[in-house]
This record gives sequence, structure tokens and C-alpha cells, in this order.
Amino acid sequence: MTDIHRIEHARIGVEDLEAAVSFYTDGLGLVEFEQKDGVVYLGCGRDDNYDVGLIEGETGIEHFAVRATDASVVEEYEQRLEGADVSTERTDGNEPGQEAGVRFSLPSGVAMEVVAVSDDKYQHFEEPKVSRGGQAPADVNHIQFLTPDVVADMEFLRDSVGLKISEIAGSPDDPEIAFARCKTFHHDVALKSSQALGETDNTSLHHLAFGFDSADHLVNFIDSAVNAGCEFERGIGRHHGGNNIYAYIWTPGGNRLELNTQMATLTREEPEISEDYESATVAWGPDAPESFTKGSGLLHKK
Ligand SMILES: [Fe+2]
Ligand SMILES: [Fe+2]
Repeated sequence: MTDIHRIEHARIGVEDLEAAVSFYTDGLGLVEFEQKDGVVYLGCGRDDNYDVGLIEGETGIEHFAVRATDASVVEEYEQRLEGADVSTERTDGNEPGQEAGVRFSLPSGVAMEVVAVSDDKYQHFEEPKVSRGGQAPADVNHIQFLTPDVVADMEFLRDSVGLKISEIAGSPDDPEIAFARCKTFHHDVALKSSQALGETDNTSLHHLAFGFDSADHLVNFIDSAVNAGCEFERGIGRHHGGNNIYAYIWTPGGNRLELNTQMATLTREEPEISEDYESATVAWGPDAPESFTKGSGLLHKK
């Protein structure tokens, strides 16, 4: 029941679809795979799976997915979740390369899928597609959202979906942030309290993160992204939890992206408990800017 690997993709809302697609492809070097039912599917280009689907309208998260080994694991998840009275929906074939999928909601309302994909050779291809820009990210890396109940989402991810909790910051009864992982990378899903640090009370996308091969690759990408019109918000810095190098940008479409490299791996079962959000997330300083309390929203089921 834990044969799931890393985050696979996310669908997010953007205010101006045409402008956002142009930004992600011409500006950032992602590849357009397909347009289907109003969603434009883009990938980093190192495999044939899409990484981000863009939906015109409001901004925010519509769903995210983690990869299962194969369709039989998706089947196991469906049975296990239904046995635990979690309502599920099959999404086989609904998205490019998504051969099998089961969708369900976290207690905060964020939709999650466990999926099997057609290109399962995994991510680490060295030869990018010809159509892919030189600076494009390597792959989607993790997702973070604001939730009114970190504990409820964390326990659901741990007990019903089989993720491990890597780190909790603040009181374990009422954390400021918690990090959950599928396998060994420090986090695939991060849950930030939507109240503890001055945020609003709503569930919302905080950021979708893309991974890079190196700090050089990440820096070159920032040059491209700023040139393509993004708003640079925070960085470059190093997070304490996860040990990764980060930068944060807001895209013209209205969502925050994190750019990430050097994320640590771990195997321990019990989470690290950190004193608070800043001690868990700031290795070098400065602390997060005031704008970091803001998310970009939650989309209802498409
Ligand atoms: Fe999906
Ligand atoms: Fe992050």
C-alpha cells in the first residue's frame, strides 16, 4: 500500500490561459503535450509525462497526483480508501499519459490522485526534447498548500495514503508546517497552517515547486523567468528542513512557483520536530517576507 513514489503532476488555474501558456513554453522552456477539455498540459520534457496542467479562470490548485508503480497499485488504493469510507473516483485515461488514477480529497478539500503513467521509465533522462528550451526545469518537485487543519491533512496523508512525515514545525498538536514524503526525498507534499502565521482561514495553493539539476541550472532559469515577466519574490536561500536551495517567483498567470535543488533524502520513520516555521525553513536568513502568507487559491472539481 505504499508503492507510491514522487509527485507526478498538478493542475492549476491561471487568469489568462494564452498568456500563461506562452510564459511557460516560450519563457520557461516547457513543452506543450496536449490541449483537452479546456486544459493545456505541459511538461519539463525529460519524459513523456505532463507536469503541470493549466486551466483558465481562477488561480490555485485543482488537483495534484503522486505516481504509483502500476495500475494494480492504483486498484489497491481505491479498495483501501473505500474501505476506510473515503469517497473515490477513478480517473483512468482522463489526462495525457495517465493510464490509471484514483482521486479523493484531503480533509482540507484539496484533491489528490494516485496515478499510473504510460512513460514509467522515470525522470532522469539526459537528452531533452529538441523543442525544449535550454533552461527548463528537470521535473515537478513538490507541492505546498495552506490548510486550516494541518493535523487532519497530515494524519490523512500518513494513515490513509501511506506517506511518511519527515518534519513538523511548532507544536505537534497544532503545527505551523508539516512535510510529508512518498519515499526518501524530504517532501513531496508540505502542509502550511493557514492561520498560524497571519494567513487567511482558507485552503489554498501556496506553491508548486520545480526541481533543477544544480544551483547553476536554477540561477540560469531565474534569468529566463525574470526576463519572461515573472515577479521575483524570495531567495536565493537554503531551507533548513530538506536542506534544499530555493527561490520563489510569481508567474504572470497568478501562482507562486518554487525553484528547488539539492533536496535531502532520509529514511527515518519518526518526524523531526522543529521549534517553529522559521527554524524549520530558514538556514541562512532572512525570514519569509510578509507576502509569504498569501496563497493563490483552491479550484473546485473540474
Ligand atoms: Fe491527474
Ligand atoms: Fe517548497
